[in-house]
Amino acid sequence: MKAILGDITTLSVDAIVNAANSSLLGGGGVDGAIHRAAGPDLVHECRLLHGCKTGEAKITGGYRLRAKFVIHTVGPVWNGGHKREAELLASCYRRSLELAVEHSLESIAFPAISTGIYGYPVAEAASIAVSTVGDFLKVRPLEVIFCCFSGKDLAVYQAELAKE
Ligand code: APR
Repeated sequence: MKAILGDITTLSVDAIVNAANSSLLGGGGVDGAIHRAAGPDLVHECRLLHGCKTGEAKITGGYRLRAKFVIHTVGPVWNGGHKREAELLASCYRRSLELAVEHSLESIAFPAISTGIYGYPVAEAASIAVSTVGDFLKVRPLEVIFCCFSGKDLAVYQAELAKE
C-alpha cells in the first residue's frame, strides 16, 4: 500500500478506480479524466450497467487506458458526517477490492474518492481509505496505490500510511 502524486489515467495497473456518479455516464473531476483517456467505448459499456448505488462498485474494460480495467464506484456526498458517509466511503474501497479479487487482479489504484466535488474532508477520507484497505490486505495480497492529485493530498495520505 503506497501513495503517489500523479494522474491516475497514466498508471499501468490492472485496474484504476473511478470516483463516478450513480449514472455511471461520466462527469467532471477524475470521472471526466478517465472517460476522456479511455475513449467513447467506456461510456458505451457503462450504459449497459444501468447505474451504480452509492457505496457499490462495478467493473468495465479499460479501453485506451493503460489499465486493463476500470472499477467504477460511487462515493457519498459529504453531508456533515451524520448520513452514514464514513460507512458508505469504506464500502466503496471494500467493494472495489472485492471486485479486483473476483477478477484475479493483482494491482489497483484509487483516487481520493469523494474528496473533490463530493466535498468529503480529505483527512477523514484518507483515514477511512487507509484503514479499510489495510484491513483487507491483511487477508489478501494486492498491490494498492493511492494516486493523489495534489501535494497536499499526498502529504495527508503519507501521514495516514505512516500510522499503519
Ligand atoms: N488522477 C487522480 N486523481 C484525480 C484526477 C486524476 N486525473 N482528477 C481529479 N482527481 C482527484 C481530485 O483532485 C480529488 O482529490 O480525484 C479526487 C476525487 O475528486 P472528484 O473527481 O471530484 O470525485 P468526487 O469528489 O468523488 O465527486 C464525484 O464528481 O466528476 C464527478 O461524476 C463525478 O458526480 C461525480 C462526482
